[in-house]
Amino acid sequence: MTFKGRDIINIKDFSREDLEHIINVAFEMEKMPRGDAKNILQNYITACLFFEPSTRTNNSFQTAALRLGANVLDPDLMEGSSITKGESFNDTIRMFDSYTDAIVIRHPQINTAKIAADIAKNPVINAGDGPNQHPTQTMLDLYTMKKEKDRIDGLKIAMIGDLKYGRTVHSLATALTRFSPDYVAFVSPDELKMPEVYIRSLKNVCAEVEEFERIEDLPRDIDFIYMTRIQKERFENLEDYERLAGVYQFSLKTLNHFNDSVRIMHPLPRIEGPKCELLPEVDNAPQALYFQQAANGVPIRMALLALVLGAVE
Ligand code: NCD
Repeated sequence: MTFKGRDIINIKDFSREDLEHIINVAFEMEKMPRGDAKNILQNYITACLFFEPSTRTNNSFQTAALRLGANVLDPDLMEGSSITKGESFNDTIRMFDSYTDAIVIRHPQINTAKIAADIAKNPVINAGDGPNQHPTQTMLDLYTMKKEKDRIDGLKIAMIGDLKYGRTVHSLATALTRFSPDYVAFVSPDELKMPEVYIRSLKNVCAEVEEFERIEDLPRDIDFIYMTRIQKERFENLEDYERLAGVYQFSLKTLNHFNDSVRIMHPLPRIEGPKCELLPEVDNAPQALYFQQAANGVPIRMALLALVLGAVE
């Protein structure tokens, strides 16, 4: 199996063996002394092209590149680029491809990472294309599950929130079809349900798949709750967003419904204030895993950059 030169566009392009290999390399990256890691991508340059806001994905990719000794081109939200002068997306990608060794890209439109990968000679990594896919988030989610429970097969997982527009849950649901989860539940308001296509393919591998509208209807023995934000920026009608934001407010009381062995994940960001879907009072509970999950983005992205640039096998 070689990853050298490979684009990372859609999680469905990755087999179980691929995903397990990436997770194993991430474990090695996490253990590696900083002085050793620093030599892995010396003299390489990566570009982080973000056409949509990002805190974790952008900065953890940059941290990963810097920890490996690479340099990073990071045009601030692409606002300083010639795109604002009317330059085409294709020409912009061609330029960054000629200056750098790999491109990490986030864009509000579906399929943009694929279009960039078709133009670029060097590897392109999808850091989120609209409501479609977020494959590297899923890899860090799987890494987090493996680290916490030492397995991905046989788990009971519940995804909660905006399952219609949330790209993280679309990628995660697809990745789980490579494993054998014991039970997967989707909890959302009727208008924000998980698209049928993801449910259908999960039913082929998973003993039981259920849908609910209320968190309280979930079984108590869930291993991982995966909360998500209602995706304001994807709504055509802001009134619909206002009506649906805040439908779930995971609190310490909600946590009580589950066994102590449950772990709470969230790709973050969560909404601040009265519509918050995961209350800060949960942060100090031993079940809260979301900040650790975000930190796991660094070793996973170190593994991915080193693999696609051919610096590790
Ligand atoms: C997610 C995203 O951008 O899709 N954030 C992230 O990358 N950690 C989730 C979200 O924005 O709700």
